[in-house]
Amino acid sequence: MKAIVFDRVGGPEVLALVDVPKPEVRAGGVLIKSHTIGVNFADTRFRQGQYAVPAKPPDTPGMEAAGVIEAVGAGVTNLRPGMRVAAFTSKAYAEYCLSPSFMVVPLPDSVSFNDGAAFLIQVLTAYHLLHTVGSTGPGRTVLVHSAAGGVGLAAVQLAKAAGARVFGTVSSDDKVALAKSSGADAIINYTRDKFADEVLRLTDGRGVDLILDAVGKPTFEEGLRCLAPFGHLALYGRSGGATDPLNVATLSPKSLKVSGFSLPTITRNFPDKTRESAERCFALLREGKLKLHIGKIFPLAEAAEAHRYLESRQSTGKLLLIP
Ligand SMILES: NC(=O)c1ccc[n+]([C@@H]2O[C@H](COP(=O)([O-])OP(=O)(O)OC[C@H]3O[C@@H](n4cnc5c(N)ncnc54)[C@H](OP(=O)(O)O)[C@@H]3O)[C@@H](O)[C@H]2O)c1
Repeated sequence: MKAIVFDRVGGPEVLALVDVPKPEVRAGGVLIKSHTIGVNFADTRFRQGQYAVPAKPPDTPGMEAAGVIEAVGAGVTNLRPGMRVAAFTSKAYAEYCLSPSFMVVPLPDSVSFNDGAAFLIQVLTAYHLLHTVGSTGPGRTVLVHSAAGGVGLAAVQLAKAAGARVFGTVSSDDKVALAKSSGADAIINYTRDKFADEVLRLTDGRGVDLILDAVGKPTFEEGLRCLAPFGHLALYGRSGGATDPLNVATLSPKSLKVSGFSLPTITRNFPDKTRESAERCFALLREGKLKLHIGKIFPLAEAAEAHRYLESRQSTGKLLLIP
């Protein structure tokens, strides 16, 4: 089968389309013929050798795909060949992928393969940040960084669907327009305005209850400055670099909370929660309260171009690869 392989860590140019053996289904898992592959920011870190799970070149990036089950391994009783699914996987940038059965989500007929691959990681990350790590609902105010990105656009819509007041930060006016059209109450172009000052202005000095921050170093300290009393900053990535060490004592005056989040904590340990949250988000898709914004679709062979685009900060919403 065709797959993207890198034989050394580095820039997007290390990604090459090559022929590799088709994987064989294992006990407890499924073999999926991928129709669409999701691109995530973490894939770029993996390619650089900077992800939490270290790459072992020759290696293949990719953590999610949607397609049709081709074979099920021994002991799998809840899935069968022919089922349309989305799955958490590894080495997803290929024509086929393997996934343990508990990390496979059956797709409703109404959800296309493109939406299935766009959905799994980014929407469920946004959902669990808002509802498992933090709490979101009427009367609560949420600030979403990278609000025109994959996780960001999902978070804006899910927070609005929950009844919260939602602010976001982005780096261009085009992204301001997109995030606003997704329902945000206010979007701050941080290249022009200091986001913490704007947040304090918009909240009459009170601050926000919850911040979703995957940028890290450039946003963390300022985020703490614009949290409301008992506010909560959920740190779930570091696209702008690792934060400086935190002196926990500085949280006391406003009784603040900082927490980390990694979606695999849910998907590896709580399969029921994964499926339940997926069902809730599928329902929001059906109701039109959640729309997936597919920013661009690339052929699998152009994975390097997809990475360049994502790292350039020009991308919006979800990027997909078609094998
Ligand atoms: N913890 C988890 O389980 C989990 C799961 C999924 C994603 N994540 C994290 O969530 C973040 C967003 O992921 P995504 O896939 O949805 O990507 P994305 O938000 O679509 O793309 C990244 C965006 O980050 C912003 N950014 C800020 N500083 C950046 C920098 N130095 N270089 C590049 N981009 C920068 C840019 O938006 P602006 O131009 O508007 O600033 C850029 O468009 C990533 O940090 C990712 O690792 C974590």
